[in-house]
Amino acid sequence: MVDTLQVPSDRIHAGKNVLVTGGASGIGLGIVKRMLAEGANVASLDLKPTVAADTTNLLSIVASATDEADVEKAVAEVVTTFGGLDVMVCNAGVIAIAPVTDMEFSEWKRVTEVNLHSVFLGSRAAARQMVSQGRGGVIINASSGAGRRGVPNLSAYCASKAAIIMLTQSLAVELAPHKIRCNCYVPGHIETPFWNDIATGFSKVTGQTPAEVIEGFKASVPWGRFGTPDDVARTVSWLASDNAEYVSGQAIAMNGAEFPF
Ligand SMILES: NC(=O)c1ccc[n+]([C@@H]2O[C@H](COP(=O)([O-])OP(=O)(O)OC[C@H]3O[C@@H](n4cnc5c(N)ncnc54)[C@H](O)[C@@H]3O)[C@@H](O)[C@H]2O)c1
Repeated sequence: MVDTLQVPSDRIHAGKNVLVTGGASGIGLGIVKRMLAEGANVASLDLKPTVAADTTNLLSIVASATDEADVEKAVAEVVTTFGGLDVMVCNAGVIAIAPVTDMEFSEWKRVTEVNLHSVFLGSRAAARQMVSQGRGGVIINASSGAGRRGVPNLSAYCASKAAIIMLTQSLAVELAPHKIRCNCYVPGHIETPFWNDIATGFSKVTGQTPAEVIEGFKASVPWGRFGTPDDVARTVSWLASDNAEYVSGQAIAMNGAEFPF
């Protein structure tokens, strides 16, 4: 083994081919923009079109991350368009806020399907492609601080996000012989359109106004602010890069010290 100091350029992902689910909004869009800026070819699979200023190396695929055929087709389209797949980011997610006694089974299934089943489908499709390419790869999945500790009125969301960590750990061990690294990012409170649903949902349960809900969550962050999508995207960029070559099976948080574990 040669252990030399390598200094990366600011286009560290030049020549890499990336697929992001849920890339049209919030954290996913932040990841799309950063990976484009750092030189990658980027495809986004979302229910709605993905729009970014730099469209030269962007492929917007309108489809569902929960549909097996859609996901397989998206990976095939990435391979046809860019020539392969190096990085898969399973980011699409939804939330449901309700006391367990009021939680409809249909709502439980919707959250589990979008948050967890989509990660299985995306990881599996990416792993198949990466194994067949024989040059390794990186799979990065979206968990949440709510996947590490129980939160009242978030049972389906917490359960799905915890399961993503264990799915990712299992894949990391299984795929290591193929040099495919698998990690999770674990955001705290990140300012995205997701928070419209959170504010409305908790407002119904607690009787606070949506603005009071947001202020309460902001006050809980020791760093003094919500995170930005790029706070997450910079960590995802690092995980996707060779700088993280020996990092696999991890769940890495960015949360302004809110859950310091
Ligand atoms: N924002 C936060 O504070 C926060 C905290 C922890 C974890 N997360 C996680 O980060 C991820 C992104 O969250 P966000 O805040 O950017 O949310 P967002 O609502 O801004 O974006 C989510 C995107 O996922 C897409 N999507 C939903 N269902 C889909 C499906 N079936 N197929 C394809 N795309 C689909 C939506 O169209 C949307 O573009 C989610 O998994 C979320 O659970 C967010």
